Amino acid sequence: MNAAIRAVTKVAASHGVPTWGVEQGFDGLIDGEFRPLTRRNATGDPAPLNEVESEGGQGGTILGSSRSRRFYERSSRVAAAQQLEDHSITGVIVIGGNGSMAGVHALAEETDVPVVGIPASIDNDIGLTREALGVDSALNTIVEACDNITDTARSHHRAFIVEVMGRQSGYLAMAAAVATAADAVLMPERPHTREQVIDSVVDCINTSFGEARDKTRVLIIKAEGVHVPTHEIVEEATRRIGEEGADYEIRGTVLGHVVRGGDASFRDRLLAGRFGRVAVEAVLDGKGDVMTGWNIGVEIGEPTTDDWIRLFRIEDVLEETESLLDGTSPVSRDRVARMEAIQGVLAL
Ligand code: F6P
Repeated sequence: MNAAIRAVTKVAASHGVPTWGVEQGFDGLIDGEFRPLTRRNATGDPAPLNEVESEGGQGGTILGSSRSRRFYERSSRVAAAQQLEDHSITGVIVIGGNGSMAGVHALAEETDVPVVGIPASIDNDIGLTREALGVDSALNTIVEACDNITDTARSHHRAFIVEVMGRQSGYLAMAAAVATAADAVLMPERPHTREQVIDSVVDCINTSFGEARDKTRVLIIKAEGVHVPTHEIVEEATRRIGEEGADYEIRGTVLGHVVRGGDASFRDRLLAGRFGRVAVEAVLDGKGDVMTGWNIGVEIGEPTTDDWIRLFRIEDVLEETESLLDGTSPVSRDRVARMEAIQGVLAL
């Protein structure tokens, strides 16, 4: 998100436009918590503050963030729109997840000021963009963690279940499973009962360590949206495999919030720069209630100055987001099919 803040600030400054940062997300917008992100340079033109330049690669956001419950109330959104008028704000760029994109849509109904969304969520559960900001950085963290776990798992001939974030999306688990040559992935897009989850894990471990595959380590990546606690899977699978007379050892690791921190990867910084430029251009063109999306080859959406990026109506984004989450989107089905086609990674 800091990379996007820096990009927006620099691109706007290049058009002679100063930028203000809103602190603590929509709560700060309601309360008018604005602070300048640019200064006037020697020629009197806007230039990014040193902090904006220097923190641009750091994880998180220098502005702070919040999940604003107040923003669900229309009175709060009217107050936010009044803040924009009172501070002579001529355009708003919202960086965030699918809740933030819904907020863009709701705010756009209360103000004539163009409001543009930039998708940012490690869950990658925002429709009409191939990736949201944060996904690549999160995957790099997960891959490094799984590589570390594989080192010890291979040395001890163990099976590991590694749980990753993603809320109701299994994207991080799927992508990481492919990148780490995991033996299986547990994801919410494939609903399972508790018993089915444990059965499939036991089968995977027996098959992988069995003569047919003769693996030296077994890695199963579980999305947190699969609501069977990782420790329960480990305990129950250990019990069942023990009863079958095998002596495979099983361990579990929950990566949790580790996945959501750390410096931004190259690709996230690149994508942030390209989203930021297109978002500023959209605002300057008076376009609102839209989101920048990394998506080519689709009929909907409006081309931009960047051939990777189109501008999508938020209504279309929210509709596609819903189908991503309930698994009916062709994008969800294609992701699962692509992953299963890669030998050895079974969507459990
Ligand atoms: O939406 C991003 C995310 O990291 C999810 O992957 C995760 O389930 C959730 O936020 C955790 O929320 P919190 O930081 O409030 O515990």
